[in-house]
Amino acid sequence: MCGIVAYIGYREAAPLIIKGLKRLEYRGYDSAGIALLNDKGLNIYKKKGKVAELENELQHKEISANLGIGHTRWATHGEPNDINAHPHFSQSEHLAIIHNGIIENYAAIKTSLIQKGYTFESETDTEVLINFIEDVKKHKGCSTEEAVRLALSEVVGAYAIAVIDLEEPGQMIAARKGSPLVIGVGQNEYFFASDATPIIEYTKDVVYLDDHEIAVVKDGELAIKNLDNQEKGPFIQTVELELESIEKGGFEHFMLKEIYEQPKSIADCMRGRLNADTAHIQLGGLIHYIDKLATAKRIVFVACGTSWHAGLVGEYLFEELARINVEVEYASEFRYRNPIIEEGDFVIAISQSGETADTLAALELAKHKGATILGVCNVVGSSIARLTHAGVYTHAGPEIGVASTKAFTAQVSVLSMMAIATAKQKGTLTDEEYRSLLSEMASIPRKIEQILQLDEEIKDIAKLFTFASNFIFLGRGLNFPVALEGALKLKEISYIHAEGYPAAEMKHGPIALIDEDMPVVFIAIKDSSYEKVMSNIQEVKARKGRVIAIVNEGDETVRNMVDFAIEIPNSHEMVSTLLTCIPLQLLSYHIAVMRGRNVDQPRNLAKSVTVE
Ligand code: M6R
Repeated sequence: MCGIVAYIGYREAAPLIIKGLKRLEYRGYDSAGIALLNDKGLNIYKKKGKVAELENELQHKEISANLGIGHTRWATHGEPNDINAHPHFSQSEHLAIIHNGIIENYAAIKTSLIQKGYTFESETDTEVLINFIEDVKKHKGCSTEEAVRLALSEVVGAYAIAVIDLEEPGQMIAARKGSPLVIGVGQNEYFFASDATPIIEYTKDVVYLDDHEIAVVKDGELAIKNLDNQEKGPFIQTVELELESIEKGGFEHFMLKEIYEQPKSIADCMRGRLNADTAHIQLGGLIHYIDKLATAKRIVFVACGTSWHAGLVGEYLFEELARINVEVEYASEFRYRNPIIEEGDFVIAISQSGETADTLAALELAKHKGATILGVCNVVGSSIARLTHAGVYTHAGPEIGVASTKAFTAQVSVLSMMAIATAKQKGTLTDEEYRSLLSEMASIPRKIEQILQLDEEIKDIAKLFTFASNFIFLGRGLNFPVALEGALKLKEISYIHAEGYPAAEMKHGPIALIDEDMPVVFIAIKDSSYEKVMSNIQEVKARKGRVIAIVNEGDETVRNMVDFAIEIPNSHEMVSTLLTCIPLQLLSYHIAVMRGRNVDQPRNLAKSVTVE
């Protein structure tokens, strides 16, 4: 978690860093800070709250500098306050650091530093690290660069750091292990950030730092070394990210923009991969693996949060279409069990960011145990994408809103294409079924456009439920994961307690909650569970629950049973989740806005969870 931005060059560092931090606020936003080095000294400014508060704080300060490091925090060690905010000084105030990650052995290092006379202002592991670096420097009589290298060799945990030194005003040192760090390479200037968004308006040339690497800019030159001090040339890549894609483009919130982008993001995801006219599907990233996937004994999806819900959809798809045994695991549980991996098993990580610590660790474990590991990631060049044997990018474009929307539908689109392609390879689909699925997939963007036109209608329904304290979401089959996703969306942005359940499970417990104050959202489309779901609706109505149902166009039967019906276009059951989730996203969005919540940056959350 946390976002870091650093700059060394000829521009004013402070405004550039503040702007960059605002772009990274999705990674954490409980406090922010900046350290600036100029000919008058090394100064740190930090503030509890959002980057805008830090910006206000800086307004009348002398902050002109061409070298600086900045941080937006998601607290791990110590509550969010001015003192725990980064950057942190070393004891001599000659070194300053920003850090994203967790130093797991910080307590032992801190104890030994205290014995040497060090004192600490904050409760953070980061202050321990910078003092450890200072201590190594002092005792070895070495350069700061060498001290960073030696200190990091003894550190257990995850980090992306940037360190500056009062005595070396032409130097920036950065390093990573387990937390992302991108370096923008300009003309006589360098940018460092947790992702490329703070960099792209200055340069598209970037270096993705690898684990156990240190980047040092000194006298205008960038050098990349490993922890054994061996130098390797910077591998400069061009980042394909446009500025417009990370701005709100007239929408009130990123989340709304991203909901509305789904016809395009799904079309982008399928472009060049699925052609319904020629009945062709090909996923470039899997070209050498599709045979093996078709004969896989088992697929295990590992993921967290919304991506885990996409994995559940994937389970139904692969089992139904390709007849492969599938398990879906919370990455955080998988990594700490002793999972059984056998020859022929595929472990597939699903992750928007490609940086989620638990998913990454689960994948490392699976790789170590001999599984073929694949990735379904959105962020190009992310850690998971680089760890896997092969994979498929979702191409949804940057997702900035903390609540995942377009990344989910792009993940489901990729999993659908993977399942169809595998089934085709395996021969478990007839030609007719195959063609029909491809044309159903191709029609999804147009059908989502139609659903988006219901926005006002959904907003009107949302108004009536703005002050509900609880919600239940029910669905069956493929749409059970959509019910889970609907509940997660609502709770994370509106802070309303919500539960998702398989509709038939309701009578085994949750039915006790039903009364006239309980809104129940049903996914009641005309699929193989339609009749069963109708019975479940009757059960809720009999107990005076208030029902909102997602139904197919023209379904008067369900409309007459429920309080509110939201009609979506008909579709093949196998692709229906790509449609049913859209009204639920809009419903949550409007309820949260009406409750006055910060939908893009809900409390306590961060977009990319790079800590355990
Ligand atoms: O980047 P990832 O897809 O690995 O992230 C996984 C979860 O942290 C993420 O889906 C989270 O649940 C979202 N806030 C849901 O909207």
